[in-house]
Amino acid sequence: MILLLVEFCILIFGIWIVWSAVVGAPWLPTPKKRVRGMLEIADVNADDIVYDLGSGDGRIVIMAAKEYDAKSVGIEIDPIRLLYSRFAIWRHRLKSKVTIIRGNFFKMDLSEATVVTLYQGHEINKKIRDKLAQDLRPGTRVVSYRFILDGWTPSKTNKESSTFLYIA
Ligand SMILES: C[S@@+](CC[C@H](N)C(=O)[O-])C[C@H]1O[C@@H](n2cnc3c(N)ncnc32)[C@H](O)[C@@H]1O
Repeated sequence: MILLLVEFCILIFGIWIVWSAVVGAPWLPTPKKRVRGMLEIADVNADDIVYDLGSGDGRIVIMAAKEYDAKSVGIEIDPIRLLYSRFAIWRHRLKSKVTIIRGNFFKMDLSEATVVTLYQGHEINKKIRDKLAQDLRPGTRVVSYRFILDGWTPSKTNKESSTFLYIA
């Protein structure tokens, strides 16, 4: 019986990993030092609304609110990361400044953002580019960690930390 339960858990875990890789980038957290670098390169401040597309455990939106006083919104498709990040927001007492929306960022309206952060992959970045161009207001800063946005010219690059800043 226990063996059956263990096998069932392994199966569910396997499905979860494959499913998250199919819908987009799997969960790989940005190191905290790099998160700070992303927020610094975009010059995030209290007037900003930061959207993290695929917000994982919420580390970017939490740091944006806690250290830079910005409002922030995370969009996350994975229910386990979603629950974890909502718990972290509650623990940091940031419920009034940080929101996590469950869903697919390709289907969300991003027009409210003044800063967008991304840690996806080359293929997703290619697909999201047109949506960013369509949704974002001119002047919105887009920061991508590790992967460039093909066809867009970065206005700043930090090669050492693999961080690229674009202005929509
Ligand atoms: C590489 S992780 C980055 C997590 C977080 N932004 C960070 O930097 O630590 C990518 C995240 O994007 C989420 N994701 C992938 N595709 C998505 C989609 N289409 N809509 C919403 N979230 C998505 C994954 O579940 C995963 O948590």
